Amino acid sequence: MTILVTGGAGYIGSHAAVELLNNGYDIVLLDNLSNSQIESINRIKELTGKDFPFYPIDLLNRGELETLFAKYDFKAVMHFAGLKAVGESVEIPLNYYHNNITGTINLCEVMAKYEVKKLVFSSSATVYGNPERVPIDESFPLSATNPYGRTKLMIEEILRDLYVSDSTWRIALLRYFNPIGAHESGRIGENPNGIPNNLMPYISQVAIGKREMLSVFGNDYETHDGTGVRDFIHVVDLVRGHLKALQYLENNEGIETFNLGTGTGYSVLDLINTFQSVTSQKIPYQFVERRAGDIGICFANPEKADKVLGWKAEKNLEEMCRDTWNWQRNNPNGYETSNDILLHEI
Ligand code: NAD
Ligand code: UD1
Repeated sequence: MTILVTGGAGYIGSHAAVELLNNGYDIVLLDNLSNSQIESINRIKELTGKDFPFYPIDLLNRGELETLFAKYDFKAVMHFAGLKAVGESVEIPLNYYHNNITGTINLCEVMAKYEVKKLVFSSSATVYGNPERVPIDESFPLSATNPYGRTKLMIEEILRDLYVSDSTWRIALLRYFNPIGAHESGRIGENPNGIPNNLMPYISQVAIGKREMLSVFGNDYETHDGTGVRDFIHVVDLVRGHLKALQYLENNEGIETFNLGTGTGYSVLDLINTFQSVTSQKIPYQFVERRAGDIGICFANPEKADKVLGWKAEKNLEEMCRDTWNWQRNNPNGYETSNDILLHEI
């Protein structure tokens, strides 16, 4: 059974590729390498001892996408490809709308043409906007406060419309909370370009000495210590949820939405303290103003995924910190290689 993984060279896609291969799936991996490095593909092969085709294709290139679908008999698609930086999306909104939305429409059109109608989509808890209360379940009202979030919201709606128009589609919309951590081998992990926007990559770059000090955005939220609270989830747990969703789509029709979170919220200071105690690295930090657009508390009610998919996050905050540090320590400069050598030609 061959699964197409879009965005498979990226942080979450590379972990999903390992999990799929380790569970007996064949994969074809597609990525335009706009936010990833080809070395991650080599590492996936090394970790699993399995080979697979990789195509440096852009979802915006409809012709190349069709050639790929003509060549392989895909059973389903895991769709990770997309741009994801909130701040950047405010600066260059048209790029975000074009890349994420047009890319997804192209993908779905080609899937429909080749009768591949099972899709697992990477959505985000950002579609809940500023939630009225926690824990957040899938029926909460949806909103978005920036172009990135709006692309996720719009794609969810486009996929619901697609299903209404053709009920042979089977679609899982997976709303991720805050994925952190890395594969326990330390061979693949998150490899942000430039200054990290997100908390965990920033902490680990302070730990390795690439950044001097962490700025904690706000200590006056209504939380147990005043800092923001999030539902951090280990990336390996997260991708296991994708395999469960894939199995679900094999047996069930329709379009379903699932929160992928642990159900537990930890604060920024909780994460810093746990990271320090697990790694014995000191993380200097200072409190600064709240970051514009941030919310105080966000954590999931993950019961639906448990009941319907039989999936639950298993890894704790210590493991998330340990594995992040293992990756960072072993790869202080990320994958470090250039994308010049491409592995396969279409
Ligand atoms: P990532 O940037 O590491 O991976 C995305 C990959 O998609 C990159 O390798 C990039 O090169 C590729 N890509 C982007 N546009 C493409 C295009 N037009 N054609 C082909 N490839 C393209 O990001 P990630 O953290 O692995 O996120 C994967 C997905 O999950 C994204 O859709 C993201 O929005 C979503 N998501 C991520 C988080 C998170 O915290 N990491 C949270 C919620 C949702
Ligand atoms: C961010 C995105 C969100 C996206 C999510 C997962 C913003 C405004 N939101 O959410 O759309 O879905 O990532 O990719 O960017 N923090 C610090 N110092 C830092 C970085 C973060 O104190 O240097 C704090 C934040 O204020 C927040 C917490 O850490 O309280 C988590 O931040 P982050 O990792 O950026 O994730 P989110 O804000 O949840």
